[in-house]
Amino acid sequence: MLIVLALVVGCDGPQSALAPAGRDAERIAELFWWMAIGALVVWLIVMALAIYAVRVRPKREHDWKKTRLFVIGGGALWPTVVLTVLLAAGLSMMPDLIEHGPADGPQIHVSGEQWWWRVRYELQDGTQFELANELRLPRGRRMPLWLVSPDVIHSLWVPSLGGKIDLIPGRVNRMALEPTKLGVYRGVCAELCGVSHTNMLLDVFVVEAPEFEAWTREQAAPAKAPASELERRGARVFGAHGCGACHTIRGTDNDGRVGPDLTHVGSRIGLGAGILPNDVPAFERWISDTRRVKPGAHMPSFDMLAKPELKALASYLDGLK
Ligand code: CUA
Repeated sequence: MLIVLALVVGCDGPQSALAPAGRDAERIAELFWWMAIGALVVWLIVMALAIYAVRVRPKREHDWKKTRLFVIGGGALWPTVVLTVLLAAGLSMMPDLIEHGPADGPQIHVSGEQWWWRVRYELQDGTQFELANELRLPRGRRMPLWLVSPDVIHSLWVPSLGGKIDLIPGRVNRMALEPTKLGVYRGVCAELCGVSHTNMLLDVFVVEAPEFEAWTREQAAPAKAPASELERRGARVFGAHGCGACHTIRGTDNDGRVGPDLTHVGSRIGLGAGILPNDVPAFERWISDTRRVKPGAHMPSFDMLAKPELKALASYLDGLK
């Protein structure tokens, strides 16, 4: 028991189903504890019987009637009752867990790509904006998620907030998240989807509702114009090397749809879906050595850029707050 406790105490942090910070995760953790306690009780009984069987001195005369009752009762009836109760307990949580959330509030569309998350918010008034590898959720509100995939099967899992759900090509799956605690949590892809399967992390920020509203206004705004000569030069490098064929920067004429939307890329916490921090050196590394930083990435490494060009481009992108 002490060992179990010691192990469980370690199960804290931004990515733990045993430290729930959302309504669904709370239900799932509750179910886990019922299952774990049930399994422990059954194990203790079986062990006690095993020890008894080893220790007991065999009697010459067996009471066959008692023995048969014991085998049928303990071997068939008891497990049937226990499993039925646990199944009923599990199923009774289903209606709560598949409750999709209000249709008249903001809707979040998540697309699992190789190997990053495309996230599009659709607000009540029809405003839309897209970002990557980041979710922002207001505390105490149930937020509907619509999940798709253009390539292979992925699975979205934010253990602190809820259960997992697959993103399947040709299908739209639905779930909802309802955070109960403020904080930064981590989501992962829980379905092997190719070489960089472990390199598609999702940062989830749970904030108070007013902060969420302010954030949606910032994100909906077009990109800020480059502020310095260096950044202006970076914007020209972006155009000259055709980056806009794959990336959108709203407010400019770059409207590519293949890669992540970069309108406010400088405001995100990291780059490359949890691989690099978000600063100028990280942008330089990502752009010039993409395929080494992220094996299998569809973006080619732009290792032909001269150092000053690379620096200008990185500064421009970092400035897109
Ligand atoms: Cu996407 Cu694993």
